[in-house]
Amino acid sequence: MWYYSLQVRALSAGFSGLEVRVKKIAILISGRGSNMVALLDAIEAGEVPAECAVVLSNVPDAPGLESAAAKGVKTLVIDHRNSSSREEHDAKVLAALLDAQVDIVCLAGYMRLISPVLIHAFRNRILNIHPALLPAFPGLHVQRKALEYGVRFSGCTVHFVDEEVDHGPIILQAVVPIMPGDEEGTLSHRILAFEHKLYAKALSLICEDKVRLEGRRARLLLTNLEYKNILSDLVDRGGA
Ligand code: GRF
Repeated sequence: MWYYSLQVRALSAGFSGLEVRVKKIAILISGRGSNMVALLDAIEAGEVPAECAVVLSNVPDAPGLESAAAKGVKTLVIDHRNSSSREEHDAKVLAALLDAQVDIVCLAGYMRLISPVLIHAFRNRILNIHPALLPAFPGLHVQRKALEYGVRFSGCTVHFVDEEVDHGPIILQAVVPIMPGDEEGTLSHRILAFEHKLYAKALSLICEDKVRLEGRRARLLLTNLEYKNILSDLVDRGGA
């Protein structure tokens, strides 16, 4: 009998040792949701070991909600106008995230500043995508700002969210050239195509526990070759 129970324990230990627990994510949006769709597509294609528990929006008529529902993903609206403070709103969002047993939160065009209520509860587990090469051009309308400044390259950044705007440790970046004929729309469009690839790659690294935080630096647990393979997909040579 003892031998049998030992075997069962050993077997289950073996299985659980092999098991890669699929991370549960929530995606927070406020609008179009093209990055959200890119994440859902990458999950569906088996490129990201995650499961999307919920797509949550603070804007009731955000077009992205329909795209998520069409993919069979649960959607939830928590309208910020029904709360009297940022903290009160974030407490409602936090309750929904805990209820859905979410491991990782992906901000994807979520046009809200996040309060410490959420940041503390999900410390280093909230990701954001920003359409510029941080720390250059934080904030809003950054494609226009990059053009006005006259930089030759911009791009996009996936980073952890901390208390400061567009500031947390950087996970991955993609570089996108600014072409002589660019205006805000064309540059935004070119960068967006890279955002979609970048966010899925960054999320997969997080889900595979290949990112380790060391102070303000997010260290990638990858060989140079593995990183080069990621980069080869993230370099724009002025196409599109
Ligand atoms: C993207 O450019 C993203 O980088 C920024 O807001 C935009 C959202 O686009 N934070 P979408 O809603 O994902 O299409």
